[in-house]
Amino acid sequence: MNDATYYDKVTDCVRQALLSGSLRFCDLVRACQGAYPSLVWQILKEMGPQVISVRTDVWSLATANRAGARVPSALSTIEGNPVLQSWYFTDRTCLRIEQLWNWASHRIAFLGTPRLYEWFATANLGESRVLLDLDPLVTRILSASVTDQIVQYDVRDPLPERMAGQFTCVICDPPWYPEEYALWLERARELASGGVVCVSLFPVLTRPSSAHERQVILKAMRTNFSFLTTLTEFLEYEIPSFEFFELAHFGLTGLGPWKLADLVIGQLNTSSEGAATLSPNGRPAWTEIDFGTLRLFVNGTAGSNPEGPLLATVVGGSDILPSPSRREPILQAVNVLSSRGHGLLSHDPLHLINILDGLSAKPANSVSMEDEIGRLNIDPDSKEVLRRLLRQNHSQSLGRV
Ligand SMILES: C[S@@+](CC[C@H](N)C(=O)[O-])C[C@H]1O[C@@H](n2cnc3c(N)ncnc32)[C@H](O)[C@@H]1O
Repeated sequence: MNDATYYDKVTDCVRQALLSGSLRFCDLVRACQGAYPSLVWQILKEMGPQVISVRTDVWSLATANRAGARVPSALSTIEGNPVLQSWYFTDRTCLRIEQLWNWASHRIAFLGTPRLYEWFATANLGESRVLLDLDPLVTRILSASVTDQIVQYDVRDPLPERMAGQFTCVICDPPWYPEEYALWLERARELASGGVVCVSLFPVLTRPSSAHERQVILKAMRTNFSFLTTLTEFLEYEIPSFEFFELAHFGLTGLGPWKLADLVIGQLNTSSEGAATLSPNGRPAWTEIDFGTLRLFVNGTAGSNPEGPLLATVVGGSDILPSPSRREPILQAVNVLSSRGHGLLSHDPLHLINILDGLSAKPANSVSMEDEIGRLNIDPDSKEVLRRLLRQNHSQSLGRV
């Protein structure tokens, strides 16, 4: 590589790194794959008004350059799904995975990795691509912009027969719980016996039990894989809308993509065996009702108690959850979630679903919504909670939805 190409490559690293958000200079240097700090500094200076120093030692692309970001994601137009734990990779992570190896000969199954799938589809990487994901809004949005095969699929269901053994590579990112890994890795084995599997693995201090859970997951993988390698902190995630509001409620605003994970890569044995017993979680029936970009999810299977309020707060008077973790005790107690961090309890969820269905069919106008809520035959406290829930004034502060 001559000096000019080398310089261009390092400049490209700087630009790609900054596309994922603001970075400390040290992180920027780390993103430049060994380029010396003084060279990175020189490049920053030569990028002139394209980059700005947002605070001491924190760098960002100027807005005009962000708009020209490499792949404007269709998924950035929708809010996150707290039920399906939609944490999407940053552009920087998608690029790192793109650069892992030459994908040209790979038939790739993207299992619960819609953002990465979109990145690959847009750049036409791989011999063929299929996305399998449960989120109906995600599969609908991506089907509108991408012509590959996109399948709305629940990993708890048997794999469609036509998919078995069709792939040379599966890239999956399950919700970070051990019981999910057993199931998702079994589906990966069915999709690509003898193929390569890339799977995210949560960090050791994610929760008190996570160091042990990682060991268990890796041990189980060793029985079916001929080799395994772990790329530490290779994956970086955008903050989903529901977490954005939960962090903001806690007073943490302006946080960049803080969540990191390892990427485990392994080659499945052709003789690998299916898991003897799989005990996927029960299947709570979450119904989604949307109001503009706000996504509401109500678990209609929770028992009904018409004596209690239709809609109430459970988090010490707050509508917003302290964290999106499934292990969060309060999350166990709520049956209404939103893409903006709400966690509420309905004593009659089926009735609530009916009411929300009715309201969502009305024209989206905040004055008429107030009137509609006022006319509902429900207790006054529930009306107040409903008003707060449906207030449409959050989207601006979120910025990207
Ligand atoms: C942690 S996110 C991973 C997204 C990935 N990091 C990306 O950027 O492409 C989990 C994904 O799995 C999907 N998902 C969750 N539960 C699922 C299930 N039971 N079956 C299929 N997909 C599921 C979600 O819709 C979401 O897209």
